[in-house]
Amino acid sequence: MSEPRTDAKISGMGHSMKRKEDPRFIRGKGNYVDDFVLPGMLYMDIVRSPHAHAKIKKINTVRALKIPGVLAVIDGPTLAKYNLHWMPTISADTQMVLPIDEVMYQAQEVCAVIATERYIAADGVDAVEVEYEPLPVMVDPHKSLAPGAPVLRRDKKDKKDNLAFHWEAGDKADAERALAAADVVISENVYLPRIHVASMETCGCIADFNSAEGKLTVYMTTQAPHAVRTVFALVAGHVGLSEEKIRIVSPDIGGGFGGKVPVYPGYVIAVAASVVIGKPVKWIEDRMENLQADSFARDYHMKVELGANKDGTMTSLKIKTVADHGYANASANPSKFPAGLFSICTGSYDLKHAFCEVDAAYTHKPPGGVAYRCSFRVTEAVHAIERATDALAQKLDMDPAELRMKNFIRPEQFPYKSVLGWEYDSGDYGAALRKVMDIVGYDALRREQAEKRKRGELMGIGICSFTEIVGAGPSKHFDILGLKMFDSAEIRVHPTGKAIARFGTKSQGQGHETTYAQIVAEELGIPAAHVQVEEGDTDTAPYGLGTYASRSTPTSGAACALAARKIRDKAKKLAAHLLEVSENDLEWEPGKFFVKGAPQKAKTIQEIAFAAYTNHPQGMEAGLEAVHYYDPPNLTFPFGSYICVVDIDRGTGEVKVRRFVAVDDCGNIINPMIVEGQIHGGLTQGIGPALYEEISYDDEGNISGGSFLDYYVPTALETPHWETDKTVTPSPHHPFGAKGVGESATVGAPPAIANAVVDALRHLGVTHIDIPITPEKVWQILKKKGVAE
Ligand code: CDP
Repeated sequence: MSEPRTDAKISGMGHSMKRKEDPRFIRGKGNYVDDFVLPGMLYMDIVRSPHAHAKIKKINTVRALKIPGVLAVIDGPTLAKYNLHWMPTISADTQMVLPIDEVMYQAQEVCAVIATERYIAADGVDAVEVEYEPLPVMVDPHKSLAPGAPVLRRDKKDKKDNLAFHWEAGDKADAERALAAADVVISENVYLPRIHVASMETCGCIADFNSAEGKLTVYMTTQAPHAVRTVFALVAGHVGLSEEKIRIVSPDIGGGFGGKVPVYPGYVIAVAASVVIGKPVKWIEDRMENLQADSFARDYHMKVELGANKDGTMTSLKIKTVADHGYANASANPSKFPAGLFSICTGSYDLKHAFCEVDAAYTHKPPGGVAYRCSFRVTEAVHAIERATDALAQKLDMDPAELRMKNFIRPEQFPYKSVLGWEYDSGDYGAALRKVMDIVGYDALRREQAEKRKRGELMGIGICSFTEIVGAGPSKHFDILGLKMFDSAEIRVHPTGKAIARFGTKSQGQGHETTYAQIVAEELGIPAAHVQVEEGDTDTAPYGLGTYASRSTPTSGAACALAARKIRDKAKKLAAHLLEVSENDLEWEPGKFFVKGAPQKAKTIQEIAFAAYTNHPQGMEAGLEAVHYYDPPNLTFPFGSYICVVDIDRGTGEVKVRRFVAVDDCGNIINPMIVEGQIHGGLTQGIGPALYEEISYDDEGNISGGSFLDYYVPTALETPHWETDKTVTPSPHHPFGAKGVGESATVGAPPAIANAVVDALRHLGVTHIDIPITPEKVWQILKKKGVAE
């Protein structure tokens, strides 16, 4: 617990009067929320707290309201009149929309200014005077969980501690017995720091309440439009916002990565402002607001113990985790799994005894728990097991590839029931590792490393053989705020044989427009160019839970194929009618039905579509369309093996990624180019946290990493040449054998890079380094070991 601060100032947070010249405000032309200008639109900007914890003594709006063009200042008490000052988070915790008398993290929303121009709103923010009384700050989750720590969430009746939740999986006593019986046990403290998705487009919305129709339209940057609509209806139903009168439109999105799943206070304030004022209200975050106030990812402190026999057979795993969730638990998690899918932590290995537990702590930081390009904590789980596997290889003096090969779940064991409860659908982990070793030339690299080590040069080879878990989900286990996780597709074939296909998911640059059209083309033979794909408008798209956690292909992709197959079934009846034969006499080839043995007697899908509206048989419904809600029987388990080669500069501690080869397996692939793009992007978002990115706080709760000046995302300069390849192991339960892929590389890359760096320093007795592995961190180690130049 730190002393109260008296000189609070957020780095770069002030809204300057010079904002008009700021290049961030140059508007482009496109289909992003910030491109939209509605008639009579007003602008909103937000006053944010410089303190991590403080009492709000007074908000003085007099100066602000005197500025011509400033129309209103909305504060907590204003919202409290409508009972809108608190809202649920997506993990069923609660979060302030605007505070009444206390702020709980730096950059928290304090009040909002509504004005006729964006710059006037910013000037209004500058003119609002807020008097704070700083209060003690808690930033360390371990201290927060310690007995006797002051309770942060005093808003929660009867809350006596700072535990957001405790969750565990497996048999603790059994895992401990097995660890005690193991010949060798490694124990490492592995920390995955707080990071931010830092997507190119920040969050924002235009809330447009039409008082004549009583209808609210919100154009917003959301990955889950339908879920947002339902949540808005549940939260604001009492002020007359009924679900049929709410339309959420999510246009093009400049990157989501999980950060645009939560509902942020800015959205709710803009909606409230529009409802009250009766005009459209636009709110767009700037970069620093985005980095400092939106939900964060990771922040997992994991103690990993891995046991094995002398011969390297892994026997037992135990992971204890303290997770820093900030002031509110805002993670996207199925309610059955408060720590998400962290129990995939046995990874690719046939472990018979395992236990993991997570204690989540409240602290004075922004809400945490975003699944940043990751299926609900799989990144954390993979980092833990893959680092531990390398530490075990080091202790056993075994080659890390050989240790992995020895412990992999074997192909014939699939479907494989893991000790922590998952049923892995399919996999061939050995094939992926062998392939990546061949491509990179593993044996030659090991020889080169030995030579270099003799000369004092530092070269490392890092492996990561990860197993992913994506496609949430089987609705019997998965929900978000109680909304069951399935997804949907609706296809309508027009009379001229062209189609429109709509989905419950929402692309943020993953290329759904291309791949969904390809699925329709593959299933119905309608050229992809003739398929219009639409997502993100709740007035038109079928209900779905949205796009995150690489779930689109396993859910809506499957729904698309099954809706198309329903259409094909009807098309067959129509073809039989047109060709005057029995359905049993027909065969299908993409694009047409023909009579068995007489291929010239055929009807194309276009002819059939025309007949569906002009010449369908009596008694048959007209039209050619279908909708399918797909509830997957299981998750899909993509996997991969990555090898990273690094050289370390002994003079500076800089890590140079010389080569990085990624072999991925996402089952059957719809579009190889898109999959490759997904992997390239994912690898780049893997090298970022591995080597550069971290958001930390000082004892007073001041952020470090709250602007791009000190939150270091990789650019083209830092990004190495990625080499990619694949194996193909279809999912047995997905309609066309596909698994998700979007996040695989973000999950697999950090441990591969960390393992490579530790491998380079292994002979010096280094067993672990926490990411981000900055030059400073490495240089300090080199200095300590007496090898720095
Ligand atoms: O949910 P999200 O779209 O982020 O993830 P995904 O299902 O992994 O798909 C990412 C992109 O890769 C989509 O455009 C998919 O259609 C495409 N993909 C593919 O072409 N083949 C696969 N086996 C998996 C995904």
